[in-house]
Amino acid sequence: MTNSTEEFAGRVVTDMAAVMSGVMTNIGHKLGLYRAMAGQGSVTSDSVARSTGTDERYVREWLNNQVAGGYVVYETESGTYELPAHHEPVLVDEDSPVFLVPALEVAASLWLDEQKLLDVFRSGQGISWGEHHHRLFCGSESLFRPGYKSFLATEWLDNLQGVRQKLESGAKVADIGCGHGASTITLARAFPDSEFFGYDLHAESIAVARQRARDEPGEQRISFTQCDANSVPQLGFDLICFMDCLHDMGDPVGAARRAREAMNEDGTLLLVEPLARDCVSDNINPVSRLYYAASTAVCTPCSRSQDVGLALGAQAGPQRLTEILNEAGFTRVRVATSTGFNLVMEAKI
Ligand SMILES: C[S@@+](CC[C@H](N)C(=O)[O-])C[C@H]1O[C@@H](n2cnc3c(N)ncnc32)[C@H](O)[C@@H]1O
Repeated sequence: MTNSTEEFAGRVVTDMAAVMSGVMTNIGHKLGLYRAMAGQGSVTSDSVARSTGTDERYVREWLNNQVAGGYVVYETESGTYELPAHHEPVLVDEDSPVFLVPALEVAASLWLDEQKLLDVFRSGQGISWGEHHHRLFCGSESLFRPGYKSFLATEWLDNLQGVRQKLESGAKVADIGCGHGASTITLARAFPDSEFFGYDLHAESIAVARQRARDEPGEQRISFTQCDANSVPQLGFDLICFMDCLHDMGDPVGAARRAREAMNEDGTLLLVEPLARDCVSDNINPVSRLYYAASTAVCTPCSRSQDVGLALGAQAGPQRLTEILNEAGFTRVRVATSTGFNLVMEAKI
């Protein structure tokens, strides 16, 4: 075996260990094992098991997996374990922009849908959003919500021309492809004088979004409707958002064209898409790898399941997205800002 084969085999073993340990991370989250360790300094497997109502032997084996992966530190002399404080925003703090553990549900859904994927690879057909295992729906909400909570109503809107002022003085906002409504509700909380209309093709997601809105003080300003992006029923919007969904649509040009019709002349389209550069050779990094996997298993089949079936993919990049928006009639399109996960674009008529 050559050195480079050995090196590559090592990389694949690392990936396999990460895939299997993803289940361990999910277990640590769901059983509150990370939470029990947070801020506690050195702990024993016994104390973690006692405080979480779990079995010590299982917890000890799990802890050793966490040590091997570098999530938890082991102190050999005392036989104790410690969750470093700087790991807490990633594993414990639900309000942190990097709290991504629940997004492992997306990975779980990919495995559970493997047979459907094998089938569409052969047939070229699509898989609609609703045909996926239900773990996808909460998983993708969890993947995107931390970004919306941290950046949407602040940094992202501040990078759009004149949008904050409009929303503060009372505007009409559409959130198309809203899923469970995480972005709609985030905006509604931040702008109590504005009205919010969420739309999504997937009936079950709209039902969850309505349930989420029911718990909100501004409930009467938020409505959720099941419809295709190409036939949004309302008009007169000041801001129309497509949050991590335009590429999932069969006809993104048609959806953006409908948004153009449904918005006021001086309205703004906010397009948030997974961060990507224009060429695959510039997308060689873990975030793009994750997005290409989701795109292959979820976004591309979702688009293929609808009319037109353009299959833009989740890593289209700003140039291709600009072409789509230009084709739909938007003349002024620009990248407004970006984060490690998101590309934020503004389009005006
Ligand atoms: C990745 S999810 C994003 C959901 C939500 N925007 C978020 O960020 O959490 C993509 C969403 O697009 C919706 N979708 C796909 N095609 C659609 C279409 N043609 N019209 C409306 N919604 C669509 C799906 O049902 C799904 O809820």
